[in-house]
Amino acid sequence: MQETRDHARKLMEKYCRVCPVCNGRACAGEVPGMGGLGSGTSFIDNVSALAAIKFNMRLIHKVVEPATELRILGKTLALPIIAAPIGGVSFNMGGGISEEAYIGAVINGCKAKNIIGCSGDGVPEFIHKSGFAAIKDAGGHGIPFIKPWEDEELFAKIELAKATGTDIIGMDIDAAGLITLRRMGRPVSPKSVEQLADIIKKCGVKFVLKGIMTADDAELALAAGADAIVVSNHGGRVLDHTPATATVLADIAGKVKGKTTILVDGGVRTGGDILKMLALGADAVMIGRPFSIAAVGGLQAGVEKYIDILQSELKQSMVLTGTESAAAVDGRILFTAPR
Ligand SMILES: Cc1cc2nc3c(=O)[nH]c(=O)nc-3n(C[C@H](O)[C@H](O)[C@H](O)COP(=O)(O)O)c2cc1C
Repeated sequence: MQETRDHARKLMEKYCRVCPVCNGRACAGEVPGMGGLGSGTSFIDNVSALAAIKFNMRLIHKVVEPATELRILGKTLALPIIAAPIGGVSFNMGGGISEEAYIGAVINGCKAKNIIGCSGDGVPEFIHKSGFAAIKDAGGHGIPFIKPWEDEELFAKIELAKATGTDIIGMDIDAAGLITLRRMGRPVSPKSVEQLADIIKKCGVKFVLKGIMTADDAELALAAGADAIVVSNHGGRVLDHTPATATVLADIAGKVKGKTTILVDGGVRTGGDILKMLALGADAVMIGRPFSIAAVGGLQAGVEKYIDILQSELKQSMVLTGTESAAAVDGRILFTAPR
């Protein structure tokens, strides 16, 4: 992995420093780029909120070979991990590899390790085109994410996404905050519950709504018919000064756990971070920037290596907290300071 990271550091020069911990400090404000918007604190806080959560370490139990696989959205995944949708290699990552090579590495690396990767969307067109092509080439094994475009563009893209053969489509509704798209004459906008229900019906496959940060929005997503939500602030790239996703997750899970699949992203870096998010109520996590570094620096082999590392870290954390299955994580593995 060190070789992959060193190679990524060269290829991503001036866009990503490939820091020892990817925490948003060195790249604060670098959008386009890999950073968080404005002060960068929405990204930084995602990482620091997770770091502030501690485990209760327990070793007197029988868990030696914990089970990391689980079933979500009609699929069995080897790990509770999805590679988050990320696009724009040229203007976000320095263009050291092509968009096609990048997304191919993510989608195929995830498929090879029995998890699932997503593709992103945006301007220029080759972002979603490369993503859709990679998912199609992988036999539909991937989740194409579409931005909340206004009607004509949205419905045309839904048809293209369906043509990849996937049985899951996502929308990053929080991209309605990307003012740059509107300025380019490519309007995106928030959607009403009725509009969302119509969009979900038109998709006709499982639907993931990404960018949920409140329990109220989670309930509205459910009412519209979303099969999964992603608790996400877009890696801190759309609105400065949002709370960390780890901070809002438990409240959201308290309202909709068991009624919809709960995914979460933002600052997840290690197997321990994954276990913390599951303990807070997520069914699985998405991971963004570290997959980008792995793909740019090591293509598919880099992505696969990163997944192997996450798997061994997750298993280790599960053993040390007495967690038998990633599909049923007890919130009591998290430490609460005595009053
Ligand atoms: C460079 C970059 C591009 C992104 N592009 C998209 C996109 O096209 N669609 C989307 O839903 N999210 C996009 N995201 C957000 C990620 O899917 C994800 O929510 C975020 O990166 C998670 O935080 P993490 O990077 O700290 O793991 C992008 C993020 C970055 C850093």
